[in-house]
Amino acid sequence: MEKMWAGRFEKALNKEADDFNSSIHFDSRMYKQDIIGSIVHAKMLGDKGIISEDEKALIIKTLGVILEDIESGKLSIDMNAEDIHMFIESELTKRIGDTGKKLHTARSRNDQVALDIRLYLADECEEIGKLICNLIKAIKDKAEENTDAIMPGYTHLQRAQPITFAHHILTYAYMLKRDHDRIYDAVIRMLSQCPIGSCALAGTTYNTDREWEAKRLGFEGISLNSIDGVSDRDFALELLSDFAIIMMHLSRFSEEIILWSSWEFKFVELDDSFTTGSSIMPQKKNSDMAELVRGKTGRVYGDLMALLTTLKGLPLAYNKDMQEDKEAIFDAVDTVKKCLSIFAPMVASMKTKKENMYKAAGEGFINATDLADYLVKKGLPFRSAYKIVGEIVGYSIKNGYVLENLPLEKYKEFDKLFDEDLYNEISLETCVNKRISSGSTGPESVKAQIDNITEFLNEKDIH
Ligand code: ARG
Repeated sequence: MEKMWAGRFEKALNKEADDFNSSIHFDSRMYKQDIIGSIVHAKMLGDKGIISEDEKALIIKTLGVILEDIESGKLSIDMNAEDIHMFIESELTKRIGDTGKKLHTARSRNDQVALDIRLYLADECEEIGKLICNLIKAIKDKAEENTDAIMPGYTHLQRAQPITFAHHILTYAYMLKRDHDRIYDAVIRMLSQCPIGSCALAGTTYNTDREWEAKRLGFEGISLNSIDGVSDRDFALELLSDFAIIMMHLSRFSEEIILWSSWEFKFVELDDSFTTGSSIMPQKKNSDMAELVRGKTGRVYGDLMALLTTLKGLPLAYNKDMQEDKEAIFDAVDTVKKCLSIFAPMVASMKTKKENMYKAAGEGFINATDLADYLVKKGLPFRSAYKIVGEIVGYSIKNGYVLENLPLEKYKEFDKLFDEDLYNEISLETCVNKRISSGSTGPESVKAQIDNITEFLNEKDIH
């Protein structure tokens, strides 16, 4: 295919250099955004009298047909084109001749690509937002089924205090809710400044209407500096950071699911449809999906680092290095979408083993803080109570007791304040049920959390 810019050159581009330079293999996925941007641009050019009404109508109509033809499979994108922008323009020109050549008036591929990638990310972020909500819903449903499932809460992966599984898993709902809101905020910022009309870097001599074009494309306003309009990819970095954070959250969740599914924990069992077997060990049921999500987190961090590094030494304005933004962005978008899509049904179909959780909660002296609180309520300062309980725990471990079955006479040897009522106070149910602070593992608080997440999902129309 002859290059648009061939006129200035005496020789054709070396074949390998041509392949190296081309981005059509990956940017072809932006065909829709490119065509929509071009339709709006053509309308503006016509309305401002820069092209004639007839030319405007013909360009808009033909671009619409090209879009339909691509979507129906009638037109396949030519992988010999340099990039998607060149392909759409040459296809237009092929269909309507010289009139097609007028579309590129008062714009450049530099502002065109800066627009397309923003439109593309806005579309994908809408999808990603929905996928996050679906996962939050699966988590909330699992929490509702498990408000009575008492398990050990951990710090340092040591059994710390009894909590409910509902409380534990709702943590991820809140993390993901912030992820959702973070993306939403970043998209608003991204759509606050439309770059189209910045042209190559310096703006244009035509009397364009950038504000109209921006509004029509769903932006709040225009980029006020044309060099800035074509030079930065900070919006993509912001979203890649947000994606990296989502992956970090999913990776932590994966790690817990992997641990919980192990024979050592046996707190949950993943559904057969989301696990794999071993080629050699018949007893194995592996949490491959969760492991892959944990593994793919590294890729998305890599995508963020790649783009940060690509941009760091670039002089203003556009440089071809910036073409490298796309593969990192597309890979991160694809990975985050896939991971979120697999996670929701994996969580929804996961079974909890409440009896194992309860048993683990009863084995680790995790009611020791509650025993100390018992003494505090009877008048001891917390530090003194803490010391006494520490001694009791030490004694019990040495002598094969747990706090629930250490005889009262023994308790009394440690402190006379101990009485029969201590056993009720340190039962796992009491430990959970009497936690009344907002946000705690207590039943009132967990209910409030479920209600709060339900309200969020209702606002998003997810039921
Ligand atoms: N394919 C290019 C990219 O993705 C489009 C912009 C080309 N601009 C240029 N001045 N060569 O960045």
